[in-house]
Amino acid sequence: MALRPVVKFPDPVLRRPTVDVTIFDDELKRLVTDMTETMYAANGAGLAAIQIGDGRRIFIVEGAVAGGNENDPPIVFINPEIEWLSDEKEISDEGCLSFPGIYVPVKRSLRARVRARDVEGVEFVAEGEGLYARAMQHENDHLRSKLLIDYVGPIKRQMIKRKLERDAAEEAEGAAADAE
Ligand code: NI
Repeated sequence: MALRPVVKFPDPVLRRPTVDVTIFDDELKRLVTDMTETMYAANGAGLAAIQIGDGRRIFIVEGAVAGGNENDPPIVFINPEIEWLSDEKEISDEGCLSFPGIYVPVKRSLRARVRARDVEGVEFVAEGEGLYARAMQHENDHLRSKLLIDYVGPIKRQMIKRKLERDAAEEAEGAAADAE
């Protein structure tokens, strides 16, 4: 069990194609545990495996966001497929752990139904609305290399890119200073 660094935009890892999970073993469970701890530590509503540099098709959604209680474990979606999206949509500000401090209005379906497997390989169907539906759509985007920044126009895109590049440079400088 370990906290893993979250890959930040514009790291090209976030655009890598992802692959289906074929082996449901203890190593997969350890990865999901790492994802869970990393998401909690960063106060995220969800996390995709590619955000910690693993190319398997896995995302998790925080328990309360998924309609449960505060202490419920996250829902684990492995090899997810969006089965249905409502025609009714809603625009709301969205954040992403790979875009720290950035919030972007994104139009999403109000309700979503997703078919996936759990960590044991058992198939299930999740249906949610509001924040849950939004989180499933956002995390599923990660598995097809689609990012928050793809929802904004060219000017805002440049601004976001510059800010995150500046943050990364400052972070690298800080790390270098700490190492001295
Ligand atoms: Ni995200």
